[in-house]
Amino acid sequence: AQTQLAQEKQLVAATAAGWVRDGMLVGLGTGSTAAPFIELLGQRVREQGLRIQATATSKASDELARRVGIPMIEPRRGLRFNLTVDGADELDPQLRLIKGGGGALLREKVIATASDYLLIVADSSKAVAQLGRFPLPLEVVPFALPWVLDAVAALGGAPVVRVNKHHPEQLAQSDQGNLLVDCHFEAIADPQGLALQLKTIPGMVEHGLFLGLARAAVVVQNGAVQVLRA
Ligand code: A5P
Repeated sequence: AQTQLAQEKQLVAATAAGWVRDGMLVGLGTGSTAAPFIELLGQRVREQGLRIQATATSKASDELARRVGIPMIEPRRGLRFNLTVDGADELDPQLRLIKGGGGALLREKVIATASDYLLIVADSSKAVAQLGRFPLPLEVVPFALPWVLDAVAALGGAPVVRVNKHHPEQLAQSDQGNLLVDCHFEAIADPQGLALQLKTIPGMVEHGLFLGLARAAVVVQNGAVQVLRA
């Protein structure tokens, strides 16, 4: 099943890489589906002379992009991306998303919001009828953590502070040096309402609900690549 999903990631990444046109400013996502997209895009830059400039949603994706030869640009005022390609942890039929399983949700949301077109790439495990089985990630300022946990628990989110994958005795840190909290809602009946409530919690810097941002998704369904539109 792992190799099947890995093949699907390659497939949707290749489709998305074909969407990029000469002259585009491109936002680069984070995770195991965005990574092959970045590699294939780098291949087009090197082999086809595709001229693009890009900004990445994480240090990891930035390093990968530079390694494969994609010209990178820094954030600046007025910068808009023609196309951003990113993964998702869950997507519902309206293309509402849960993101942040890889911990990059803050930069991902910044870049998604600065993009004219957000294209999601996802293997067949990501599409759901209702969001919430995947724990909703939050990025939290360390000082605020105890009170954020209280507030999320009061909303029914069963919060768990994320630990470092490689050093389980340490807490996971975002690229900004903040903490990550995974909220087990199980079912999110009203994503918009929850997003508004989360935004009122001081020290909760960003949440992983991406609502009204994705314009299309390249997914695998019934063994074939499909494009879903919002
Ligand atoms: C990174 O923070 C996430 O938002 C990823 O986009 C998401 O976790 C999907 O990653 P995979 O493509 O590795 O499943």
